[in-house]
Amino acid sequence: MNSSTAARPPVATGLAAHVADGLRQDPKTLSSMYFYDATGSELFQQIMGLPEYYPTRAEYGIFAAHGPAIAAALDPAEAPGPFALVELGAGDGLKTKLLLRELLATSNDFSYVPVDISPSALDGLAASLAAELPGLRTTPVATDYATALAQLAARPGRKAVLFLGSNIGNFAPTERAAFLAQLAAPLGAADRLLIGFDLQKDPRRIRAAYDDAQGVTAAFNLNLLVRLNRELGADFDLAHWQHYTEYDPLTGAVRSYLVSTRAQAVRITALQHTFAFAAWEVIHTENSYKFTHPQIAALAAAAGLRVVATFDDGDFADVVLARA
Ligand code: AVJ
Repeated sequence: MNSSTAARPPVATGLAAHVADGLRQDPKTLSSMYFYDATGSELFQQIMGLPEYYPTRAEYGIFAAHGPAIAAALDPAEAPGPFALVELGAGDGLKTKLLLRELLATSNDFSYVPVDISPSALDGLAASLAAELPGLRTTPVATDYATALAQLAARPGRKAVLFLGSNIGNFAPTERAAFLAQLAAPLGAADRLLIGFDLQKDPRRIRAAYDDAQGVTAAFNLNLLVRLNRELGADFDLAHWQHYTEYDPLTGAVRSYLVSTRAQAVRITALQHTFAFAAWEVIHTENSYKFTHPQIAALAAAAGLRVVATFDDGDFADVVLARA
């Protein structure tokens, strides 16, 4: 090593900066935002089809049953002119296609702006939309929520924003309130926000949804370590890590962890650092909060939003919101 490189460790950005920060915290924490590399996005698609993972089917059923009413709430009759339908965390768009068909049949002119952290998921979505809904104008944006919020605030014209699948459950309570306030701030009187909330229910059903019998959710969680090995030159040995998840009915939080099954040291080349893990120490990798209707109402009110319509099948609620 020559002296010019020895003096300075590399400046970490993006994933590397996040991991450097997260693995220095106590408890060690990594963001679920980094699950979604190409493999992670595929695994999440498999999760959505699992017998235990009810949220996707529940929301799909709500859209199938109430498509016209949801479309009418998103595109109010009194609002003139074209609008942008912006979806945060669009993924494979399976449920959204029901709404897109409905809106194409009934609505004012609109364009669809799917936003997702995963470029591979967006490519798949754009290809399937071009084949299945050739009349739709689509402008995919591969970025994170923070950037998407800034772009949304700067976007002129009427908009309807979709935040489906209980993606909102990934935020801890403080972040959730801040995120919603930011999402609400640029909304005009005719703009709408549709949020999908997974509801609190039988704790065993909730837990099973995050610990399926086939081990797909385990593979999804562990894939984060595979990603760090590949992208940051880490040497996580997957034989000594396991997936663990619990549901806490007091807070409504599903928390997912990667558990170190023995004392071990993990070198991360990109960070020029070795991290020590005690036996049974965990990395907290995800929150998936579940909600009650009073919590949803309070959340909306705190963000300066009013509830326009609620579509609820008992397991899951899709709530259309507008500026209060
Ligand atoms: C995509 C965030 C809604 O939290 O239910 C599924 C991700 N994690 N199984 C969720 C997930 C484990 C999912 N969201």
